[in-house]
Amino acid sequence: MLNCDRLQRRKARVNMEGALVARDQVGIQDFVLLDSITSETAFLDNLKKRFNENLIYTYIGTLLVSVNPYKELGIYTKKQMENYMGVNFFELPPHIYALADNAYHTMLTEMNNHFILISGESGAGKTEASKRILQFYAVSCPSTSLLDRARDRMLVSNPVLEAFGNAKTLKNDNSSRFGKYMDIQFNREGEAVGGHILSYLLEKSRVVYQNHGERNFHIFYQLVEGGEEETLRLLGLERNCQHYCYLVQGGTLNTVNYKNDWKTMQKALFVLGFSEKETEYLFGIIGSILHLGNVQFEADSKGYAHPLTACCILLQLLGVHVQVLQEALTFKKIEAKTEEVLSPFSVDHAIYARDALTKALYDRTFTWLVNKINESLENKDSTKKTVIGLLDIYGFEVFYVNSFEQFCINYCNEKLQQLFIQLTLKSEQEEYEAEDIEWEPVQFFNNRIICDLVEQRHSGIISILDEECMRPGEATDLTFLERLEERLGNHPHFVTHRLADQKTRKTMDRGDFRLLHYAGEVTYCVVMHQAKNSIVKHCFPPTEADSKKRPETVATQFKSSLMGLTKILTAKEPWYVRCLKSNEDKQPGRFDHVLVRHQVKYLGLMEHLRVRRAGFAYRRRYEVFLHRYKPLCPATWPHWRGVPADGVERILKHLGYSEDEYKMGRTKIFIRHPRTLFAIEDAYEICKHELAAKIQAKYKGYKVKGEYRKKKEAATKIETCWRGVQARKEREKRAWAVKVIKKFIKGYMTRHQAATTDNSEYLTFVRHNYLTRLKDHLPKTVLDKSTWLTPPPVVKEASEMLRKLHMRLMVRKYVRGITAAQKTQLQLKGLTSELFKGKKDSYPQSVSRPFVDTRLSEQDINMRVLQMIRHERIKYSIPVVKYDRNGFKPRPRQLILTQTAAYLVEEAKMKQRIEYRSLKGDRSVSGSLSSGLMGLKGWRHGDLVLQCDHLFEAVTKLCVVANKRNIVKVVQGSIKFDIQPGKEGFVDFGSGQEAMAYKAKNGHLMVVSASLWCGCCRC
Ligand SMILES: Nc1ncnc2c1ncn2[C@@H]1O[C@H](COP(=O)(O)OP(=O)(O)OP(=O)(O)O)[C@@H](O)[C@H]1O
Ligand SMILES: [Mg+2]
Repeated sequence: MLNCDRLQRRKARVNMEGALVARDQVGIQDFVLLDSITSETAFLDNLKKRFNENLIYTYIGTLLVSVNPYKELGIYTKKQMENYMGVNFFELPPHIYALADNAYHTMLTEMNNHFILISGESGAGKTEASKRILQFYAVSCPSTSLLDRARDRMLVSNPVLEAFGNAKTLKNDNSSRFGKYMDIQFNREGEAVGGHILSYLLEKSRVVYQNHGERNFHIFYQLVEGGEEETLRLLGLERNCQHYCYLVQGGTLNTVNYKNDWKTMQKALFVLGFSEKETEYLFGIIGSILHLGNVQFEADSKGYAHPLTACCILLQLLGVHVQVLQEALTFKKIEAKTEEVLSPFSVDHAIYARDALTKALYDRTFTWLVNKINESLENKDSTKKTVIGLLDIYGFEVFYVNSFEQFCINYCNEKLQQLFIQLTLKSEQEEYEAEDIEWEPVQFFNNRIICDLVEQRHSGIISILDEECMRPGEATDLTFLERLEERLGNHPHFVTHRLADQKTRKTMDRGDFRLLHYAGEVTYCVVMHQAKNSIVKHCFPPTEADSKKRPETVATQFKSSLMGLTKILTAKEPWYVRCLKSNEDKQPGRFDHVLVRHQVKYLGLMEHLRVRRAGFAYRRRYEVFLHRYKPLCPATWPHWRGVPADGVERILKHLGYSEDEYKMGRTKIFIRHPRTLFAIEDAYEICKHELAAKIQAKYKGYKVKGEYRKKKEAATKIETCWRGVQARKEREKRAWAVKVIKKFIKGYMTRHQAATTDNSEYLTFVRHNYLTRLKDHLPKTVLDKSTWLTPPPVVKEASEMLRKLHMRLMVRKYVRGITAAQKTQLQLKGLTSELFKGKKDSYPQSVSRPFVDTRLSEQDINMRVLQMIRHERIKYSIPVVKYDRNGFKPRPRQLILTQTAAYLVEEAKMKQRIEYRSLKGDRSVSGSLSSGLMGLKGWRHGDLVLQCDHLFEAVTKLCVVANKRNIVKVVQGSIKFDIQPGKEGFVDFGSGQEAMAYKAKNGHLMVVSASLWCGCCRC
């Protein structure tokens, strides 16, 4: 059963905390667990035992009993508040915070309104309790900066209302002299968002009169003792209470620091949003009341009253004309038909009028103050709110002299007791009967009879008072008393001096009547409109003065307001705090047995305990219970189709509860112990989270799926669109391509025809294309003749031009880059080319071989030879082989070319000299195509047959030095030469195994070149 993790954890925590607060376990925390529920003594013993350990709180079920310790116990710390937040009622020791927290959470879960009824006699600790509850909510409720403002205002409304509505009495140094019901409004999130205060009958007589040992309202002392000098000066006041008639009656009060209270109260007014002017007017009224109290009268010769003191300051403070005020205090205005007659007052009457005015002024100012605070607390947001009402009303009190106000206060307490009885004892028992729950009735005292005695129409005290006030003729206190005796003489709770027995009569005066209240016997003694102060103006509207309607008596008004309160309360779920006074002397740690026993008795705590013990802590209609807890049982979740009662039973069986823990009524389920309910609630909490997690998971899955589907759809759509776009682009491209190709083909086909757009575009393209390709394929060297791109016909001409240009450009570049030596070399090569190109096989191979200046250095040439020809300047020299003209014997020689002649030198001998002049026309030099052989004409004894390795070079040099170009002839086949003038010789050429030259049989010179040794290499 309910064995899930969270519960385990919670139990562990409770055990732990239980151990921590072992001290708190003194006695019994809940009277329901008391052995003897009928023994008042056991009840009191338990209370006392706990009280002695400073444990002032004890439960009777969910009702909290609080005993006033009259000392600070350190149990209202923030830490304590945190301990009690969100913890089930019975998990921690009894505390006002536990009750506050439980009410709060029940309100949030059930979304309904609640109220906490704090009752007890004067000084029992009701106001303290209500303040603690408010403070708890201020800390425990979630808050935001905006809410903090509302929360602060609610908190500070207390010091203001206490200053104006609380006073020292014999029973209590801070006794509430008005009833207060405060609604704290919460939104769905549980945030405290606003508040509203209803005030009930302020004891205004206290302003003008206080019993011996009692004091006026705190505000007067706060102002006189704590007010700033400047404030007092403006109000015309002195810092001495003894100077004011309304304050002199009160005794001293040491427990209060009025200076601090004054500051707190002023700060509170500021927080509540009172303007400076409003504050000024408010204190103006308080000051003026003190001044009014000091107004004295003297009688003239006729006995008419005249004020002794001037009321000038009142003019300033209230804004009422002095004359009007004096008239109001000393004359009675009688309206007779159309006339108004002023009848003068005696001194007594004038004093009475003064006090009446003062009381009315204070009372209405108090009402204005409450309204103002309400404006400040109001939450204007119209969203649904739930409320927790705090009822802190003046407690039941018995004084030596009990005036009309005590009558009202005690009547109010009767009403609340009646409500308590109605809601707990009576209706509860009636309900058990109605629901057919086995039940043994518990006897209790029903104070209905006293309530009726006071409030019953026509026969109640209030009705009789009303009748007496309205009756023609002179109505006095005594006639009223007579009327009461006449009408209520037989009532068991009503006694007068005349009706009482001997013994009782001694304790009463003739003008008294006594009521036997639920809380004890109490003997009662029968005994404005033009203003400039805006608050006064507001409190005394001019229309009121003109109203002819007879006002309701205060008692009737009070009765109606209590009816209203009862209505407000019965519409809400109740929580009770019963405050007990530990002793009459406000002494810490003193437990007055008799006094407490008396309170326990009249508050009906024993009866309540008996009903609780025998009864059931919790009941709910089957439908409501089923609706809330159906998730706890698989059979009822998510729907129960059968009868609700069966569904509820299924749930309880499923949770494992035995039959003595609950009872099934006609329409409701009754659960005996709160712990059972808490356990169910815990299970529900856990289950709720699990369900929420499941729902969340489902929802998240659903959402994510939905999102995924949406995204997928979107992606498909985008894809489709994108494909469409791409396809369209592709189509456009293709269409364009087709067009271009068509145009191209057309252009191609008509390229030779007259220019049209198509073919000119085509041709432009061809040109462009060719040129761009050409750009990348240009020949890199002048010698590269093959690289040039073959041009299409249309650019043939341009291509040729470009080729030439390019060639020129390359040549130019080359030329610019060559040296003088290279230039000479080229010129020589150019000449060689002229001479031999195409004529000699070995020519192409020779081109790449550079010519040298000379093949022989000066050291190689004989000294003598040098000396002989030096003057001619040697231009070139080379070793050669000369073949004899007859035997063709090879002779090594040096061929030296000077400026003027060519020499053949053998060592030191100058063998032949051929002047260049003698070299004529072509044929002066002839050479074979296939070998390095040449015939040189010009020598006078015949031609010279020479062979050298650098034939091209030597011949070219000869041409250059001789400055003759046409002297060379390249011959094919045999060379014919003149052996002697007139005698011819021939040189033939062949190839063989070995290179050689010899005289052939035919007498020719046979030059054989080796097959491996070609003539070319030798060239
Ligand atoms: N829980 C408490 N802890 C300490 N002191 C307390 C506590 N409750 C009450 N008192 C003391 O008792 C005094 C009277 O309490 P309180 O004013 O709340 O009484 P009351 O029931 O409101 O009386 P009345 O009906 O006259 O307004 C307080 O001023 C305070 O000193
Ligand atoms: Mg109070």
